[in-house]
Amino acid sequence: MIDEATAKAKYWVEEPPIHAHPDAISLIQHYRPELQDTEAMIPVLKDIRLKAWNIKYYPCVGLWHFFKFGMAEMPIYPEIIERLKQGQRVLDMGCFMGLDGRKLVVDGAPSEGITNMDLEDRWFPLSYELFKDEDQFKGEFFGKCDINDEGLFGEGSIHRHRYDMIYIGYFIHLFPPKKQSHIINSLVQMLKPSSGSMLFGNTAGTAKEGGHKMKADFAPPVRNEKGEMEKQDFVFHSTKTIVDLMSEAVKEGKDGEWEFTADKASFDTDTSPTKTFAVHFKDAEIVELNFCMKRK
Ligand SMILES: C[S@@+](CC[C@H](N)C(=O)[O-])C[C@H]1O[C@@H](n2cnc3c(N)ncnc32)[C@H](O)[C@@H]1O
Repeated sequence: MIDEATAKAKYWVEEPPIHAHPDAISLIQHYRPELQDTEAMIPVLKDIRLKAWNIKYYPCVGLWHFFKFGMAEMPIYPEIIERLKQGQRVLDMGCFMGLDGRKLVVDGAPSEGITNMDLEDRWFPLSYELFKDEDQFKGEFFGKCDINDEGLFGEGSIHRHRYDMIYIGYFIHLFPPKKQSHIINSLVQMLKPSSGSMLFGNTAGTAKEGGHKMKADFAPPVRNEKGEMEKQDFVFHSTKTIVDLMSEAVKEGKDGEWEFTADKASFDTDTSPTKTFAVHFKDAEIVELNFCMKRK
């Protein structure tokens, strides 16, 4: 992780972009009726956001990117709610404070079918501090779960073959490009091995057809083949390269047959307005990238 001053220069916006995210505001108002007035809400949001930032200097925290409900913006969102109503289960892997799950509940899904999972369990008390829904939310939280750990999804794990749907919002880019196909396959091991099970998500992508590679400054340096420390590789996927990645992850066929889809939308610059951010990513032609792989 980079130091706080560098992270703040690139990835910190002081005020919550409340006008750009009416759905996030109405979600919080739903759970916290006493915060109808956004003036009253702002200090609460800033306090929770600062606590999250002090746990990890994630760009999505500093830039309020978590105000964006990636799942709700996907064309398959109504299908997810319908399947939850039928008793199916969704795993939100890398759930952060479980905002997408809270949104699903407000949009009519039963909370019983929602499993939140993250490497970092210190997000979860913050989420209860924000939503105050300990008595209503009947879903699950699993912390200290690392997708790099085979024990999480291998033989004997309670998570193996358990989920009908797995959502990964702003997750896959956290892993080095060479490892991403393995990560996708690890997630597939947590899906039920039946027709219709699906892995879906979103990430910051690029409009460039072949993807855009650069060196990451937000992850710890790694040792290269010459033994020197260097910045990690980072890739912005295109609709083509993300489909290639998903099909590579299950190419051996032992995980069944799949259909793959990906689409792009314009990137929400309301949550990425810092000048340093714009300069840093100026060549990337960033877009919002949605993807889904569904078992035939
Ligand atoms: C960029 S945030 C995305 C949060 C949320 N899904 C969203 O769409 O806004 C990435 C999340 O993944 C979690 N994470 C990072 N590495 C992980 C790992 N190896 N296994 C599980 N979760 C991880 C982080 O703690 C963080 O909550």
